[in-house]
Amino acid sequence: MYNIAVVFYSRTGTTREAAQMLADRLDCPIFEIADTVSRSGLWGDVRCVLDNVLRRHVPYRYTGPALTDCEKLVVMAPVWVGHLAAPMRSFLKDHRTFQGGLAAVAIMASRGGFRAAEEIAMTVGRPPHPALVLLQRDIASGEALQDINDFAASLLEQAPANPTQAPRAAWLSPNEA
Ligand SMILES: Cc1cc2nc3c(=O)[nH]c(=O)nc-3n(C[C@H](O)[C@H](O)[C@H](O)COP(=O)(O)O)c2cc1C
Repeated sequence: MYNIAVVFYSRTGTTREAAQMLADRLDCPIFEIADTVSRSGLWGDVRCVLDNVLRRHVPYRYTGPALTDCEKLVVMAPVWVGHLAAPMRSFLKDHRTFQGGLAAVAIMASRGGFRAAEEIAMTVGRPPHPALVLLQRDIASGEALQDINDFAASLLEQAPANPTQAPRAAWLSPNEA
């Protein structure tokens, strides 16, 4: 049984980097949702757009533990065309009966992260808590580390040892329009 685990999808490595930072801070295991067909190149870009615009359920590979073995899950994924990336949306839809704690981090270039968090809420039937939106450039520069540390602290405050304490909200707005 895992007290807490990070599950991420990343096409080009930014979310992977942020997920590793968070897992290091939480000292928890990290598991990947991967594409079964490469999304590299221009055709990969086109498929990302089509999968999201058409709200397709896409195939993915997940070799992590059964979610019933996780008390709390942090899901992390990028924003594609203003929505949660299709592989993570598909994964959450397939695991919408997960009853454990759920937190989320959306990664974006400029906008759409809050809508992605709302989509997670709609998919699993409850809002992720806490939820965090990070800018790609802040992950690259290292500026996101403070936000990730604060997010991790908020998660740890939710520990079962302290179940009556309401978790501190960790919404961070990178001036999203
Ligand atoms: C097809 C596609 C659509 C995207 N759409 C958005 C978007 O609507 N808003 C945004 O802020 N970033 C958008 N991005 C940028 C990604 O969210 C950003 O590059 C993110 O850091 C990628 O994460 P990854 O490296 O983990 O794959 C898009 C990227 C791709 C490939």
